[in-house]
Amino acid sequence: FIMTNKYMYFVANWKMYGALSSLNTLNKVIKFSKSKDINKGRLIYCPPYTLISSFSKKFKNCQIGIGGQNCHEGENYGPYTGSVNAHMLKNIGAQFVIIGHSENRERGENDKLINLKIKSALRAKLKVIFCIGETLNQKKQKKTRSILSKQIKVGLNNIKNKSNIFIAYEPVWAIGSGFIPKSEDLFTTVQYIKSKFKVNFPKVLYGGSVNTQNITSLKEINNLDGFLIGGASQNAKKFIDIVKKTYT
Ligand code: 13P
Repeated sequence: FIMTNKYMYFVANWKMYGALSSLNTLNKVIKFSKSKDINKGRLIYCPPYTLISSFSKKFKNCQIGIGGQNCHEGENYGPYTGSVNAHMLKNIGAQFVIIGHSENRERGENDKLINLKIKSALRAKLKVIFCIGETLNQKKQKKTRSILSKQIKVGLNNIKNKSNIFIAYEPVWAIGSGFIPKSEDLFTTVQYIKSKFKVNFPKVLYGGSVNTQNITSLKEINNLDGFLIGGASQNAKKFIDIVKKTYT
């Protein structure tokens, strides 16, 4: 098995960063996406809501995907100040949406709400990047598996067709910290996540402090289908570098 032959997803999560001026930095990435360096993978950008429309216009003639970073669970328009639903994302050109990110769980999103959001996103024909992961405390208490199991069970409750769902395993303690799990731990956790699905394993991405250095060891973990990249994805050169290093 050679990692370089595997189709991989590289998802840029820009979080609450980026302005119209950031559009210029995408030229490099667009050029790269058309080169043969990346014929075995897919780039997906999830900028803040304010930039989705401009990003999707910018990517019109290339294969780069676009996604939102969250959505409201409601399927119709409604009096929800500050919210955006999945149909609205779809309408401005998004094909993906990140749901269940720990930064939103920390602000009160629970597994049940996440389940409703995922259902609404699938009905709007978006592909879902469903984030799960344990906190440092949960890890210390050896609760990683039970937490992941609950997040998957409740988050995907009553969803029969899971073919448009990616799982992003993001240990909360690895996000923005510079720390990543030990390779063998990451491999076994990803196997555990996949074992929760009887048929049609979802694609599993890893997220948390992925950078241009640690990608050389992360890419060896051969049950991963890609990466969800925060900080490093805001810099076009670093993002491209991560992709290139995955394939070399
Ligand atoms: P960092 O890559 O900045 O650690 O962020 C990871 C993340 O939360 C991606 O969703």
